[in-house]
Amino acid sequence: MPSPVLIINDLDLIKDVAIKQFQSFPNRQIPNIFKVKPWNANLLSVRGDQWKHVRGILSPTFSSGKLKKMVPAVQRVVSNLVNNVTEKAKTGEMIELKEFCGWFAMDVIAGVVFGLQRFSDFLQLLVEAEKEQEAQQEKPADYSTANELVYLDMCLNEALRMFPPGFYTMRESIEDTEVGGYKVPKGMRAIFPFYAIHIDPEIWPNPTKYDPERHTPEARATRHPCSFLPFGIGPRNCIGMRLAQLELRMALAAVLQRVTPVLCEKSVYPPKSFEFGRITSTDGVWVKFQLRD
Ligand code: HEM
Repeated sequence: MPSPVLIINDLDLIKDVAIKQFQSFPNRQIPNIFKVKPWNANLLSVRGDQWKHVRGILSPTFSSGKLKKMVPAVQRVVSNLVNNVTEKAKTGEMIELKEFCGWFAMDVIAGVVFGLQRFSDFLQLLVEAEKEQEAQQEKPADYSTANELVYLDMCLNEALRMFPPGFYTMRESIEDTEVGGYKVPKGMRAIFPFYAIHIDPEIWPNPTKYDPERHTPEARATRHPCSFLPFGIGPRNCIGMRLAQLELRMALAAVLQRVTPVLCEKSVYPPKSFEFGRITSTDGVWVKFQLRD
């Protein structure tokens, strides 16, 4: 049955709901499609104390120390990716990036899960051998250099501003409360429409222009913290944010050393369609790769 929702475009109020009043808004209202253990503990959907419990267990997996340990596994997947794009560049094939990058993201997850759980001597040896071989060919970004790629980060952030994979997130109240002087009953959803915020010309002048300079540390310092929310905000923000940023930096730094993506006959820009809760492109995201000298 349809029920009223609160759509908040006031940045201070988003901050209040997501951070200051998190105790009153700890949940999302997303049906859990998984009914059996352990899949029903899916972090996006779980509520209340179960969320606290699961998030508490999973959070240490994404600490700086654990992320550093994931680097060899990510490097392995990245070097496969580089080989792949180099081959595609040689044949001049057109590539659909949604599927191509989707496989990469899945490989990283599979690689890091395996890497964290069973980092046996055997695997360690294998990784070391591979690292040595790679070091002789070229230098992929490691954890510390990946964290120093400031301009690449600015470019990534601008892409996430214009094309965040999701276009809103939400919280649900677990009690009658008040937000910015407005009464909010128990069970009401508060929607944060962050894509609309990302393209609001009052916050981001000339919003359809791709301009990484908007994300210099100085520019960021002058903006409201809720003006850029591709990974959400507050205690229930994206738990995978730092892994996502790390793998994106490492992949792009390595791939762009070898090839340049260029538009091709099937390229459609900007991507045309929105699906429920996410931005995508029905026409696919097509490019060609050109080998760099
Ligand atoms: C560019 C990549 C990604 C983007 C843009 C993204 C974005 C988001 C957003 C907007 C949310 C909702 C946050 C909120 O409500 O405040 C979210 C939640 C979440 N994301 Fe991501 N995400 C990305 C990658 C990942 C990865 C790689 C993982 C796992 C390794 C991941 C796991 C999760 C989980 C488990 C949640 C639910 C967190 C909770 O409810 O406690 N995400 N993500």
